[in-house]
Amino acid sequence: MSGASKDMPSPFSLEQPAAYAAWREGKLAAAPTTLAELLVEVNDPRSLSGAERNAILERVQRANMAIYAGNNGGEADPEIPRRLGEQLGLFNLDKHYLADDDGISALTVAEGNTHAEFIPYTDRAIKWHTDGYYNPPERTVRGMLLHCVDPALSGGDNQLLDHEIAYILLRDRDPELVRVLAMPDAMTIPARRETDGEARPAQSGPVFSVDDQGHLHMRYTARRISIQWKDEAAAAVAALEEILATGTPWTLRSRLEAGMGLICNNVLHDRSAFRDGGNRQRLLYRARYYERLGAPA
Ligand SMILES: [Fe+2]
Repeated sequence: MSGASKDMPSPFSLEQPAAYAAWREGKLAAAPTTLAELLVEVNDPRSLSGAERNAILERVQRANMAIYAGNNGGEADPEIPRRLGEQLGLFNLDKHYLADDDGISALTVAEGNTHAEFIPYTDRAIKWHTDGYYNPPERTVRGMLLHCVDPALSGGDNQLLDHEIAYILLRDRDPELVRVLAMPDAMTIPARRETDGEARPAQSGPVFSVDDQGHLHMRYTARRISIQWKDEAAAAVAALEEILATGTPWTLRSRLEAGMGLICNNVLHDRSAFRDGGNRQRLLYRARYYERLGAPA
């Protein structure tokens, strides 16, 4: 469902319309249109039962994502996302200098320290993106976890869209749109210090790419600042922006409550602005991995 065997004709090749049609039909037939279809209740995410693990990975196979609700809300323990990831096939964390030593970032509103100038560490909205879109190819982020220790007083919701659905909506509109977005210089991030604090050289890359296992990967940000799009990609970028802004039957809105989390193959997501207050301070752990999630047993 989430791709094809590397020995089969790739559904993501424009020269394989029959493979695309067959994959598309299966994908849309299984694609969730409600958040409830993605939700798995678990006891302790640090030690899943076999049934809980399979329930999560079955949803990931359908939708490239799952939401879990566990019983340790309020517990500020980075071992929760770390051990959860390991049970799902995620081991190699992408480390950058704002992450703690262990590679897991504590996202909370930072005041008066070096984190405060970077959007993830503020209460502001974050536009649609996939994580690590500015990373070099050897640090491609394929898997991602968000674990909510405490939610905001209000706001801080995420919209989610499986990037394979975005691919389908674009290709159905015009295959030319996905062709230009697969060009190796479709999107360039100029050299700069990025909003999450990392100093980076310029990075050019495709929006859509296919890995050596045949899985579709997407690299994207809706930010307008400090992004250079290839001229030829303008119509495709506009179409994608419209799809994300208008919403689709497969665009899901999630609010992670205490003890809940998102597990995904780096799907498209955004974040609404939020407000802390009283004794509530939003705290989420974020873990980014070089691997994709595993398959159910
Ligand atoms: Fe993100």
